[in-house]
Amino acid sequence: MTRKRFLKGAAGAAGAALGAALVVPAVSLGPALDTESLYYSPWYRGRRLVDENGRPYRADDISTTTFYTAYPENVDHEVLAAPIVVVRIKPDRIDLPASRAGWAPEGILAYSKICTHGGCAISEYRKPLFPPTSPEPAFVCPCHYSTFDPATGGSVIYGPAGRNLPQLPLMIDHAGELRAAGDFNDPVGPSFWGVRSGGPT
Ligand code: FES
Repeated sequence: MTRKRFLKGAAGAAGAALGAALVVPAVSLGPALDTESLYYSPWYRGRRLVDENGRPYRADDISTTTFYTAYPENVDHEVLAAPIVVVRIKPDRIDLPASRAGWAPEGILAYSKICTHGGCAISEYRKPLFPPTSPEPAFVCPCHYSTFDPATGGSVIYGPAGRNLPQLPLMIDHAGELRAAGDFNDPVGPSFWGVRSGGPT
């Protein structure tokens, strides 16, 4: 091999390595070119809500004293938009946007379990022990304490989250079981990938 060819080959290899060094960190930030998967939701009208063991939830199962985690029937629980939190609230306290009338049958509401701040799971429910002097029930994310009001459409009432929890419309079928009445009102997940572009919802 001539000296010229050797130097050309070495320069090409160095250029390829430099290109890879620039591209790999950028790609690791997320699917910048293919964002479709981030919008995927397994929920649609008629899909049953089940618990972690696959048992369907009945409306009668949902009490006002706690919150429940539910999944779409026959869907991998690891899918980002699969887990939801379900609560029952006194109907006279519910104040949803007008466009969501009928989304909370018998005062039962469902929201994405994925915090819109950094994507942690909503795993705490602030439930007043003495209602006359306590704040209203709310979902709390344990990571940075973003707090969401289920009675008003999952609105952020405390913490760093930049947008409300996506809400899932519900319906109760003839057998008394809970089913989705459609898909979420907003994409599920943290906001780093640009879902705030339209402003808080
Ligand atoms: S991830 Fe939920 S508050 Fe930060």
